[in-house]
Amino acid sequence: MRALVTRGKPGLELIELPEPETPAGHVKVRVLRAGICGTDLHIDGWDAWAQSAVTPGLTVGHEFCGEIVEVGEGVTDYAVGQLMSGEGHVVCGHCRNCRAGRRHLCIHTSNLGVQRDGCFAEHVVLPATNVWVHPGLTAATATPEQLDVFGIYDPFGNAVHTALKFPVIGEDVLVTGAGPIGLMAAMVARHAGARHIVITDIAEPRLELARSLGFRALNPREESIGAVQRELGMQEGFDVALEMSGSPSALVGIIENLNFGGRIAMLGLPAQPIEVDFAKVVSHMLTIQGIYGREMFETWYAMAAMAQTGLDVSPVITDRFAFADWEAAFERARSGDAGKVVLDFTDLQGA
Ligand SMILES: NC(=O)c1ccc[n+]([C@@H]2O[C@H](COP(=O)([O-])OP(=O)(O)OC[C@H]3O[C@@H](n4cnc5c(N)ncnc54)[C@H](O)[C@@H]3O)[C@@H](O)[C@H]2O)c1
Ligand SMILES: [Zn+2]
Ligand SMILES: [Zn+2]
Repeated sequence: MRALVTRGKPGLELIELPEPETPAGHVKVRVLRAGICGTDLHIDGWDAWAQSAVTPGLTVGHEFCGEIVEVGEGVTDYAVGQLMSGEGHVVCGHCRNCRAGRRHLCIHTSNLGVQRDGCFAEHVVLPATNVWVHPGLTAATATPEQLDVFGIYDPFGNAVHTALKFPVIGEDVLVTGAGPIGLMAAMVARHAGARHIVITDIAEPRLELARSLGFRALNPREESIGAVQRELGMQEGFDVALEMSGSPSALVGIIENLNFGGRIAMLGLPAQPIEVDFAKVVSHMLTIQGIYGREMFETWYAMAAMAQTGLDVSPVITDRFAFADWEAAFERARSGDAGKVVLDFTDLQGA
């Protein structure tokens, strides 16, 4: 099968690999769509983080959907032909948090496409416990647009996990970072009943995308968040903030614009330590909650339920490339002008 691997230097390589085996308790999936994520760009660029975290020879990619084509010994809950999305965090099952049912807090988490072979390949193998089935649909009956969205359930789940961490009904929500995950989080907050939602970004194409989705979006380098609060008639500050950029100045801007008792759910991964005015965090009784991955599988139930009740995140997917054109797809994702970029594997397989 063809697979996109890292060689431990900048640039990925499309190579031929043997078909993977399907061990007991695992499923083999024919990949239909995969999303390109910042993590994949870091590995492609072979930066300091990638060098510290990734073993050369690894197949990259962790956001995907596909069709189950083989089930390993002992797998009884899933069957060949089912359409699924993959949960990319593989947990140990025996640490304290796993045993307590808090699998997203497993201390031995191994990530698809980072520590174990990922989904930028014709087939990917993962534990059956990491499967999320889309009932009533198959590779043949799902529309191309449905497959695109199923291909990004992993980052959609990041958005849902973050946006629903704190109650948002009737609340004013500030979202910093209008990347695909920030945009989806804003859509989730709107779907869940937030009042005002304001999104910040420093890149014009991303702000435009946010505006096209109906959000009040601003560049904090050109316009103050406080002025936008006044424009909206807000009296006291945002109630909830979703930090989706990883930028230190975004977190500082959040702390300056939250009401007393405000809550920050922080998914954006900063590249270095951030200086924070903790006197304000203390005196304003702010909560800062880190968010990692998705709750298994509570977040997934919430995603499916919102998709069923009219939440359509497809507008954040701006580009679809055939897997064979992966280089162009990576270039597009790297440009920062696009929303989510997905790879389509169906041509390759003649499906
Ligand atoms: N915690 C987790 O489990 C997890 C999982 C996936 C992604 N992430 C992180 O979540 C973040 C969002 O992911 P994404 O795929 O949407 O990333 P992305 O890089 O596409 O989007 C981030 C956006 O933030 C914007 N930005 C940069 N500086 C800013 C500032 N000062 N104010 C406002 N916006 C600013 C960028 O222009 C960009 O549009 C990233 O930091 C990513 O590393 C975390
Ligand atoms: Zn991702
Ligand atoms: Zn564990």
